[in-house]
Amino acid sequence: MNIENITTVGVCGAGSMGAGIVQTAAQAGFQVKVVDVSEVVWARALKTITTSLERMLKKEKISEADMAAALARISFSTDVATLAGVPFIFEAVFESAEVKKELFGKLDAVCGDDVIYATNTSSLAITEMAALVKRPANFIGMHFFNPVPMMKLVEIIPGMQTVQATTDLALAMAEKIGKTSITCKDTPGFVVNRLLVPYMLDAVRLLEEGVASAADIDTAMKLGCGMPMGPLELQDYAGTDIGYHVGNIFYDYMKDARFAPPGLLRNMIKAGYLGRKTGKGFYDYSDK
Ligand code: 3HC
Repeated sequence: MNIENITTVGVCGAGSMGAGIVQTAAQAGFQVKVVDVSEVVWARALKTITTSLERMLKKEKISEADMAAALARISFSTDVATLAGVPFIFEAVFESAEVKKELFGKLDAVCGDDVIYATNTSSLAITEMAALVKRPANFIGMHFFNPVPMMKLVEIIPGMQTVQATTDLALAMAEKIGKTSITCKDTPGFVVNRLLVPYMLDAVRLLEEGVASAADIDTAMKLGCGMPMGPLELQDYAGTDIGYHVGNIFYDYMKDARFAPPGLLRNMIKAGYLGRKTGKGFYDYSDK
């Protein structure tokens, strides 16, 4: 299969990462068929996509015609069968082996032999997931970053059974949708999260130890190191539960204390302080 022959892509999962992938692919000119279990999730995703496009319009990065054309290329269904015949499918459903297993079973029942599956997982092993599908040679990791329409990077992670043609196609796909890719081994965290997760958890440890306030920790890293967001601000942005969940998975796998979520973070999850999405995290967003 050649990237030039691909005009339609599928995206399974319309959460924040899935919605970002849908938008990015639609802006790159692909027809995008989206599948999620719920119309409610899709309504939220469409709002996210529209808001993101409007911000780009305001910043004069795109025209009104670009925005309308991108939205017109997107279609949604709750039925996996609508992806029959689609040659390239991004998977961005909930980070659970069970949920992914069920989805790939359904996809394998309707998709052709040549279909490529690109999973956006950040915490599950690519080789392990590839073992769930009929053709693991066509299975690869494509890890995007939040917010997907703004972040330029995609990590490309071949599994043990992934063939070179699949990797080449994933690299070509990343380029076609305007991303820069790096290729890395199938190890926990790949490159970015391997470095980012201990850094973010260390920031929580500093706060827990009373070394500095949340605002001062964030200011230190923004002004001292040129980070666009401080480590605590970033956790509120992505959802404190995400770093907690991912840290736990990496810790279970590597038994490296740097990945063990600190008690403060655990208590925040229990208290429902999940960051921006719940109105409270390291900061208060109740007035926004
Ligand atoms: N689409 C979506 N979100 C947008 C957007 C667009 N077109 N334009 C801006 N944003 C978001 C910002 O996050 C922020 O939200 P807010 O208004 O509600 O506070 C706001 O819009 C900021 O907009 P600005 O125009 O002021 O900001 P910039 O455009 O200068 O930069 C940014 C925004 C690119 C998100 C920058 O802050 C940044 O790079 N932050 C760091 C993000 C990061 O590190 N991401 C990686 C997370 S780790 C990950 O994803 C791994 C995975 O496994 C979970």
